[in-house]
Amino acid sequence: MISCIPRLRRLAVTLVVLAVASGASTSMSANAGTVLITGANRGIGLEFVRHYADAGYTVIATARNPSTADDLNSLAAANKSIHVEELDVNDFAEIDGLAEKYQGTAIDVLVNNAGITGRPERQRFGTIDYATFASVMSTNAQGPLKITEAFTAHVASSDEKKVAVVTSSEGSIAGATSNRQPFYRASKAAVNMIMRNISHSLKDQGIVVVLVNPGPVDTDMMARARGRMPLRTTTLAVDEMVTVIDNATLNDTATFYNFDGTVLPW
Ligand SMILES: NC(=O)c1ccc[n+]([C@@H]2O[C@H](COP(=O)([O-])OP(=O)(O)OC[C@H]3O[C@@H](n4cnc5c(N)ncnc54)[C@H](OP(=O)(O)O)[C@@H]3O)[C@@H](O)[C@H]2O)c1
Repeated sequence: MISCIPRLRRLAVTLVVLAVASGASTSMSANAGTVLITGANRGIGLEFVRHYADAGYTVIATARNPSTADDLNSLAAANKSIHVEELDVNDFAEIDGLAEKYQGTAIDVLVNNAGITGRPERQRFGTIDYATFASVMSTNAQGPLKITEAFTAHVASSDEKKVAVVTSSEGSIAGATSNRQPFYRASKAAVNMIMRNISHSLKDQGIVVVLVNPGPVDTDMMARARGRMPLRTTTLAVDEMVTVIDNATLNDTATFYNFDGTVLPW
């Protein structure tokens, strides 16, 4: 079933903005809702900030080092609905502190985007670097779990009630037909399993979990792939992922989606 509520709200926001711009008097506020995004300082996360801010959302844009997040800070300087906050997804005190700071704020869409691959040479069987393995698992799988746990009340009190995870087709066990990036693949398979599990508890609160693969996207993460394979723009990837997030319902919670809305095999 296709949910058009977010799009209708955004249309309403656009109409309000146009009305205000044309000088008409209106008592409505131009706010489509609130989103929180992790890893918002570059790549796909930064594009999510642009997208949701343009659509009239209040954006809580988190980055582990806001003082060096120049692109994000420039966006925030030009748009008062973007709030930059410090958040390392491995820092539990920081996560709990931010959840407390925003206690009472409804968060319509929680976007678990931050992620790392771990250096390829540290994942070679025979010379495995286990500290890197722990760090990839912690950032990509434990981080979204802890953040979702900390912000469940905020999402439950919102209109849209969506928890999204930017996962990867690399997390598909069925798709693992060669030995490539085992830490990264394991972490994305793990986050899929964790979110699928907790979706059963979140469903009772009306919260929809969306697992979405952006496809190969031209970001720092894919720097080594530039020129070797076609990479999609962050704009296209985020447009498509937002459509998948918008369309997801409780009936299909925790489905493993590709960017085009098709379903990926576990
Ligand atoms: N690009 C692709 O083709 C592709 C494909 C499939 C899935 N994905 C997924 O898409 C998501 C975004 O990737 P991207 O391509 O935009 O990568 P990216 O350009 O490398 O950006 C990664 C983001 O995650 C942040 N991050 C890393 N560790 C963090 C931590 N401990 N706490 C908070 N933030 C942290 C980084 O912050 P810093 O700047 O501080 O390092 C950065 O903002 C990831 O989950 C990735 O696995 C990407």
